[in-house]
Amino acid sequence: MAAAGLLGAVATLASRRLLCAPPGAARGRAAVLGPARRFGASARAWRSSEDKVTVHFINRDGDKLTAEGKIGDSLLDVVVDSNLDIDGFGACEGTLACSTCHLIFEDQIFKKLDAVTDEEMDMLDLAYGLTETSRLGCQICLKKFMNNMTVRVPEAVADVRQSIDMSKNS
Ligand code: FES
Repeated sequence: MAAAGLLGAVATLASRRLLCAPPGAARGRAAVLGPARRFGASARAWRSSEDKVTVHFINRDGDKLTAEGKIGDSLLDVVVDSNLDIDGFGACEGTLACSTCHLIFEDQIFKKLDAVTDEEMDMLDLAYGLTETSRLGCQICLKKFMNNMTVRVPEAVADVRQSIDMSKNS
């Protein structure tokens, strides 16, 4: 039972990480183990500080939370890996089913982000407090130009899955 739970957690982590994996990157077990396990000590250079990106989050209460991620991590990875206290963030674990990872970006950063997909746009349409520079954190992968950017957590959060559940009960 515990082993099944652990395997499920590993599978979720692997699928979350693959979103931002560059073409040709390791898939499956190798992706879960990470480069240090696949290539030994020589891969440690891959984890150098040059691969780190610092992100500041302005939380709902106005508090500033700062965390580091690696290039290629999603903003959901950053929040989860750094154990940031952002209530309800990432409820669907990056499967584009909740919009709880809604973040508001600075204009100059927003303009450089990869294009939004139809699936992300569908979820964004259901998010509270949508702005011109809103995106879903689970769909945004860290790049060097994002170093020291500040993203804002909207004041309210919508979990689409709960809305659906609630409508079933009414
Ligand atoms: S974590 Fe659910 S849509 Fe991003």
